[in-house]
Amino acid sequence: MSELITNIGELMTQDRGHGTRRNAAVVLEGERIAWIGDAVHAPAADTVTDAQGRAVLPGWVDSHSHLIFAGDRTAEFEARMAGESYSAGGIAVSVNATRAAGDYELTRLALGRVAEAVSQGTTYLETKTGYGLDVEHEARSARIAAGVADEVTYLGAHLVPAGSDPDEYTEMVCGTMLEAVRPYVKWADVFCETGAFTPEQSRRVLTACRDAGLGLRVHGNQLGPGAGVELAVEFGAASVDHVNFLTDSDVDLLARSWSGWDAGRGTGERGTVATVLPACDLSTRQPLAPARKLLDAGVQLAIASNCNPGTSYTSSVAFCVTTAVLQMQLSVHEAVRAATWGGALALYRESGVDEDGRRAVGSIAVGHRADLHMLKAPSATHLAYRPGIPLTHAVWRAGVRAV
Ligand code: NIG
Repeated sequence: MSELITNIGELMTQDRGHGTRRNAAVVLEGERIAWIGDAVHAPAADTVTDAQGRAVLPGWVDSHSHLIFAGDRTAEFEARMAGESYSAGGIAVSVNATRAAGDYELTRLALGRVAEAVSQGTTYLETKTGYGLDVEHEARSARIAAGVADEVTYLGAHLVPAGSDPDEYTEMVCGTMLEAVRPYVKWADVFCETGAFTPEQSRRVLTACRDAGLGLRVHGNQLGPGAGVELAVEFGAASVDHVNFLTDSDVDLLARSWSGWDAGRGTGERGTVATVLPACDLSTRQPLAPARKLLDAGVQLAIASNCNPGTSYTSSVAFCVTTAVLQMQLSVHEAVRAATWGGALALYRESGVDEDGRRAVGSIAVGHRADLHMLKAPSATHLAYRPGIPLTHAVWRAGVRAV
């Protein structure tokens, strides 16, 4: 089956991170994009959708979320809005509720969050474990995550559970827990922060997970300056996420990690993507991550929701894009790129076909997965110009109309 989407007002392709066309059309064939061009030259197709001048973007690629949890942390949020500062201690509340929930309930909750994300334009989504924190519950979280998300990250190193010895717990994360989650996950992450995992413990986790064949990511420099960025770059991690407290040397390290990358062609030697999480920065009242400075230094940037019960209970990537434009001094094109192409880059999914035969995501290019987001607006600028207005008109996920 083929579908022609025609009379597109602004088509923001983000092809290799660039590109906008006007009065364009796209043909979808099955799960892939088969043709892109001027609407006047569009070929025939089995069905036709008239965009009536609306904008079309790649679907959001949400490269950082924590969707496998039960329970509620409204009280913690209220306390924070009353002046308390965020500490990772609230993770334990979610761990208790998650362990107490049955498989069916945990799956139902996670699927609901994915559906909420898709309804707002997300078409490719990573999620993490990290609210199980023992072998049984981390493995269960990983199994459930593999059934609901496109990419799964092992975050046994989220917090040392109360009553556990930090070094013994770290050993377990690197040993029995890693073995138990291994069939379900492609990535591993560590929360390298004062109050979570020390640089030395983080190094042990990254080493064990790399040796087990997992790709690496790091939660770093969220609550204060620290070793997160240094470790991420040293280990060649795909991304370092949060990055609120960066020294000039951190920015420089990240920029140098991209020195072998051709940003024009979107090819070359990968560095470490800096993933900024604007909704989390607002919800924790932290300084915003220096996205402008990172981009100006030549760092590849991703924007993600960080949907989780503690620091960022939103799956709206559009909200994050809006915030990045209004508060982080990004242009609309830069923010959309970071939330589409940048997210794909952070998941190694921006080009080619992965080991499971899945097509590239995060940009609108012939041969890529047909993941499209049509706005109720003529241009992507409206995402920032009309903040808070739900602008998703239609969503195609792997060629299938999802909204
Ligand atoms: O990415 N920083 C660590 N992990 C989550 C928050 C977890 C929580 O508080 O539940 C984050 O912000």
